[in-house]
Amino acid sequence: MKIAIDGPAGAGKSTLAKELSRKLGYIYIDTGAMYRSLTWKALQKNINLEDAQALFNLAQNTKIHFRNDSDNQRVICDDMDISEEIRSPQVSGAVSRVASYQEVRKIMVNQQQAMGRSVSVVMDGRDIGECVLPDAEYKFFLTANREERARRRTEELKLQGYSVNPELIEKDMLQRDKDDMKRDMGALKILDDSIVIDTSNLTIDQVLEKILSIIQED
Ligand code: DC
Repeated sequence: MKIAIDGPAGAGKSTLAKELSRKLGYIYIDTGAMYRSLTWKALQKNINLEDAQALFNLAQNTKIHFRNDSDNQRVICDDMDISEEIRSPQVSGAVSRVASYQEVRKIMVNQQQAMGRSVSVVMDGRDIGECVLPDAEYKFFLTANREERARRRTEELKLQGYSVNPELIEKDMLQRDKDDMKRDMGALKILDDSIVIDTSNLTIDQVLEKILSIIQED
């Protein structure tokens, strides 16, 4: 069983996907964390983000995997736990650029498909329903109004200890969405077979309930 969850930043995808996978006993794969890991490594190495070849080489030589701790999932890049580092504003500001390169995306998509082979998965991202798991049994597209999405991102960053400017967060988030929607390969979009859920006025439990009822109906 494959469940794809796509949508813009702050729509509640990862919290929901985590809960859903726990409930169903499936593997959770946070594909955004993979693009973030690559971006973190590129920034560490001072790689020019306009250098497609250098980023392609980097993607080929980077191993990313997930390790499940008792309560949450850790992101391991080349044997280093960078779960916190990949959420920094610097990484958030650069990740769409890195994710815009087709050759980089092909490598990531291949790895994601390999991770989802022969296991039941809940995978969240932007292009899961279209590129990574086109045969997924369920394709959900989560969305929310921009004020709510910006509020959630701001809260998330505050919890991680960053001092944040909400207006700037909203501006960056909208820019990232725009970039994610306009790239040639794997753009963020609603598919013909997507089930769209607006989470603006729903709690995570309510979204979870809604999704579970759709899955259990069949
Ligand atoms: O879900 P997130 O905010 O952690 O994702 C970070 C960035 O990675 C986002 O701006 C777009 C990119 N991304 C992508 O291009 N394709 C995916 N499947 C997942 C994320």
